[in-house]
This record gives sequence, C-alpha cells and structure tokens, in this order.
Amino acid sequence: MARRALITGITGQDGSYLAELLLEKGYEVTGMVRRSSTVTFERISHIQDRLTLVPGDLLDEASLIEVLRSHRPHEVYNLAAQSFVQTSFGQPVLTGETTALGVTRLLDAIRLVDPDIRFYQASSSEMFGKVVEVPQNERTPFYPRSPYGVAKVYGHWITVNYRESYQLHATSGILFNHESSRRGLEFVTRKISHGVARIKLGLDDELRLGNLEAQRDWGYAGDYVEAMWLMLQQDAADDYVIATGETHSVREFCELAFGHVGLDYEDFVVQDERFFRPAEVDLLVGDASKARAVLGWKPKTSFEELVHLMVDADLALLSDRGRPGR
Ligand code: NAP
Ligand code: GDD
Repeated sequence: MARRALITGITGQDGSYLAELLLEKGYEVTGMVRRSSTVTFERISHIQDRLTLVPGDLLDEASLIEVLRSHRPHEVYNLAAQSFVQTSFGQPVLTGETTALGVTRLLDAIRLVDPDIRFYQASSSEMFGKVVEVPQNERTPFYPRSPYGVAKVYGHWITVNYRESYQLHATSGILFNHESSRRGLEFVTRKISHGVARIKLGLDDELRLGNLEAQRDWGYAGDYVEAMWLMLQQDAADDYVIATGETHSVREFCELAFGHVGLDYEDFVVQDERFFRPAEVDLLVGDASKARAVLGWKPKTSFEELVHLMVDADLALLSDRGRPGR
C-alpha cells in the first residue's frame, strides 16, 4: 500500500519540490490549498494531475481536522506559513496566527484524528536572529529579530512540547535559507536574479535593494526537501539543523549574479531605505553535522551553482520579453 503524505503550503517553493520528491518515491500526495480569488498553482501545474488538492487553512482548525479525517495521511509536512520576514513587521498578528498558532491547530488536529501521524514542522534559522554563537546548531539559543522569527520560535517549541506531552512523532527541521528558480520574487536572491535578467535584457536600468552586508547560509531548495523526508523516516522524532556551513553577503550574491552575465553590480544596484528592516539578522551560518551523521544528508549544490542556475532560469523566463540586450 502506498504511503500517504499531506503537505500544507504545497503551492509554495518548498511544497512544490517536496511534492515532486514524494511522488517520485511512490507516495499518494495530498496538498492543502487555501481559498484565493486567483489560481496560485503555478509551481505545481506540471504535477497537478498526480496530486489531490484539498481546501483548508491554518487559521481554521475545523478545516484541518476535516482534511486529516478524509485523507488519513501517514506523514504531514507543515510548510504553510506567512514566510516573508519584511511582511511580518507590518502584519505581526496575522503572522502569529498563521506561522505560530497554525502549528498548534495542526498538531491538535493530528492528536485528535490520528496520533500515529508523523509530523514535520518547517522551523527556521531566523529563530537564531541576533546570533549568540557561530556557527548555529540544534543547541544554540534562539534570539529572534522579527515577528516572523518570534512566531517560528513558538512553532518550534510547540512541536517539541507535543512530542514530549503526547508522544507524537513530531520533528522540527531548522532550515537555513534555501532558494531556487521557484523562490518568491520578494526574497532577495530571486529579486536579484530576476533583476539581473531584466537589466541584461534591457527591461530595467537599476535594481533597488536594502542592506547589502547581511550574510546568509544559502542552499538549494531541491536539496533541502530531501532532508525533510529523511527526518520523518527516523524511528524517533528529533530536531535537525539543515545548512551548507558557508555564509555569503547579499553584496557577494549581487557580484556573482551580475558577473554571470558580464555586468558589474555597482553600475546597477541602488540602496533604498524602503528595503531595510526595523531589526536585522546580520549573520547566519549553520552547522549541519548532526543531519550529516544521523540522516546521511549533505547539500549537493554549491553557492556559485545556485546563483548561476537562478540567473539562467530568469533569463530563460524573460528572454522572449526582452529588447536587444546589453
Ligand atoms: P512560501 O513559498 O512563502 O510558501 C508558503 C506557503 O504557505 C504557500 O503555499 C502559501 O499559500 C501557504 N500559506 C500561507 N498562509 C497560509 C494559511 N493561512 N493556510 C494555509 N496555507 C497558507 O515558503 P517556502 O519558502 O516554500 O517555505 C516553506 C516553509 O518553510 C515556510 O513555513 C517557511 O516559513 C519555512 N522556511 C523557509 C525557508 C526558506 O529559506 N525558504 C527557511 C526556513 C524555513 P499561497 O500560495 O496560497 O500563498
Ligand atoms: N527581501 C529583501 N529585499 N531582502 C533584502 C533586500 C531586498 O531588497 N535587500 C537586502 N536584503 C537583505 C535582508 O535585509 C536580509 O538580511 C537578507 O537580504 C535576506 O532577506 P530575504 O531574502 O527576505 O530572506 P530572510 O533571510 O529574511 O528570510 C528567509 O529565510 C529564512 C531562513 O533564515 C525566508 O525564507 C524565511 O521564510 C526563512 O525562514
């Protein structure tokens, strides 16, 4: 009998890669999607006929219970969240309702419907915020710097609490930034790769960014969803850091991305106050040695490959819209 998985956030970047991976592994994949006035299935349109999409929302516990009752998954991957840090400053309550309390609603629904379900929580390196040690591992104390980070700390601890209180197989994957050509356009990596392609094709003359000195541990999303699956195949639930162990600044990302198409970022990047944050996370770099030892996981895509694949994908996406290029 095929194993059944439920993915919340299946329309997002990670949801689409995880759905592909689970289908490859022979799972029956159900994706929970929320109501919207326009279709948001762009990232999963190529596999939509192999998925079962069901309505539900992390804000509505009854909808979660209904999804679990009707589809009886063996594994639940909770990827849904208000995931953009900048938005969390403007919408802190919505972010808390979705990204924090949404986790409790789903864990409670699991406890009520089928406590044997294995649960994955999409925790984040943003929880380390103003880091108290370098690199960060599973024992590093949290110091979140945004309403999003605070909400993820809640989501992490409620996952641990349901594991300890009700013996749920509930795992928290603490993933460092991971990117791809399917990354939302508002996140800095995709904003840069898309901006580079637009500039190269003559569609734009500048790229407006915020803090160029922030450093992140950037990996490739396709590599990271494999770690999620591996975590739920373990006998016991636990917490794992997933990261590359390398850190790079936004400036370096710009340098490489513009350099890939023969341009100098300094000719095009303009710093704009609008993109700075009330509180910043200056430096993230993860230590994934536990994941390597226990799960046998390691990243496959280098930073340079990541930057190049994102720029190439945006060039291909936009090339039919361009004028004679630079
Ligand atoms: P994403 O592209 O922003 O996707 C978020 C998903 O959540 C979308 O499918 C969205 O649906 C859904 N969603 C939002 N609010 C919802 C609600 N109230 N009920 C149900 N679904 C809702 O995020 P991602 O980059 O794939 O990240 C996946 C998860 O990992 C998120 O929890 C994120 O916080 C976490 N994370 C991401 C990273 C990273 O670097 N990517 C690192 C660490 C942790 P719509 O399509 O309808 O908007
Ligand atoms: N978005 C954005 N836009 N960020 C900018 C810009 C800009 O124009 N200019 C500079 N930055 C800086 C931000 O200030 C931040 O320091 C860094 O680029 C990365 O920003 P994002 O790409 O928005 O990602 P994030 O690190 O805040 O959050 C992402 O990673 C987390 C894991 O650490 C998101 O995917 C979160 O959902 C995830 O949990």
